[in-house]
Amino acid sequence: MEKFFIKGGNKLYGKAVVQTSKNATLPILSACILTKNKVVINKIPNITDIDNMLEILKSLNVKCTRIGSTVTLNPKNAKNIKVDCKLARTMRSSVFLLGSMLGRFKTAFLSLPGGCKIGARPIDIHIDALKKLNVSVEEVGDYLYFNATRAKANRVKLRLASVGATENIIEFASTLKGKTTILNPAREPEIVDLCNFLNLMGAKIYGAGTKKITIYGVDSLYGAIYTPMGDRIVAGTLMIATAMCGGDVTLENAVPYQNENIIKKLVKMGCQIDIKSDIIHIVRERPLVSIGKIVTGFYPEFPTDLQSMMTVLSCTLMQPTYIRERVFENRFLIVDELKKMGANISKMDENCIVVRAGELKGCEVCARDLRGGASLILAGLVAEGTTIVTGVQFIERGYEQIEQVLSSLNADIKKYEQKSSDNNLNS
Ligand code: EPZ
Repeated sequence: MEKFFIKGGNKLYGKAVVQTSKNATLPILSACILTKNKVVINKIPNITDIDNMLEILKSLNVKCTRIGSTVTLNPKNAKNIKVDCKLARTMRSSVFLLGSMLGRFKTAFLSLPGGCKIGARPIDIHIDALKKLNVSVEEVGDYLYFNATRAKANRVKLRLASVGATENIIEFASTLKGKTTILNPAREPEIVDLCNFLNLMGAKIYGAGTKKITIYGVDSLYGAIYTPMGDRIVAGTLMIATAMCGGDVTLENAVPYQNENIIKKLVKMGCQIDIKSDIIHIVRERPLVSIGKIVTGFYPEFPTDLQSMMTVLSCTLMQPTYIRERVFENRFLIVDELKKMGANISKMDENCIVVRAGELKGCEVCARDLRGGASLILAGLVAEGTTIVTGVQFIERGYEQIEQVLSSLNADIKKYEQKSSDNNLNS
């Protein structure tokens, strides 16, 4: 089993180029099904969520050719088949294809591993919005069957500003005759990137990133050549790592204008941050101070995906920090792992923790989700001694060679197989 081995205590110095955004590239790859023409996506990130999405597209008979970080997709002969549960791996992957499959084929089966029922929280917003567009939904075994043959453009108001639901409605409505309006859409920069890509293909989408998106359906979409935006969560992760370790780091392709919330917080805590075009330069010399509380929310509020990194950073501060998670339930999975390292964290309620000063000591900890896993690596960067992080597969869903990026910034981190007999590595 592969593990990360991290020796804490190094400051971070140097320059890194931030990878392309996972959460922009996934819906863009899904949107390729909407056209019968060739699409070229440049600089796609080398991460397993993207590999998984490409495998799913291939299973739908989309020709995918990958040369380096450029992928050419030919969706001309795409087939409307059930996305294999195994391939879908998590419902999220197959959910992200729903809108484009309905836009192209007018019907779609959505695999629901574990037989979730209609109305289950994770997709009720998608379903309610599609029903508003006169799409029918019914359960067929462990699948949901969607039929859009009688769909009509309409005004859709989302109960919650769901990113995936917004993306699905945008993709589906792009080729749905008439005017569709989305009220209370997600405003994330990745939505704007998807709409820029679709408009390049000939779609007519207005208002992305605002509280109202208007889509005038077109008959068909052209092919396109596109490079998705930089990954603002990876950029945020590297900024927080530098803030925790101290040092002087320059990040390129770092989408600074889409990262204002975390930048403002780190400056308030004592970092110096300069931004210029797509570059973020962060310096941390003196001890940081807590800003008292961090509350996550829908963009442009503080991103939920950076919450666990800020929890780790808060462990290094002398003052307490209250952290409230308002987007996902149960997104404090790493608290128990951090406590193994000596973190002083207590739960105020289901969605709020308070983090107090404590000494983090290296030990073996286990990643259980993508962003929590990255946060455990950051904890290892500042912990005393060696930290071993297992659950590498979760982290590599979204971070491209994180050990190489951090090593290039002077961190002491390696990834290798640990044989069961080899147990003196912790020395
Ligand atoms: C996207 O997930 C991102 N994933 C997530 O990033 C991100 O955390 C999330 O948006 C919020 O910003 C991708 O873009 C691939 P949501 P998504 O629908 O679309 C509830 C990462 O680490 N909800 O905006 O799945 C839901 O349970 C990942 O890169 C419903 O109740 O998130 C959650 O509490 C993690 N019913 C909230 O809304 C629904 O039908 C936000 O979910 C849909 C969502």
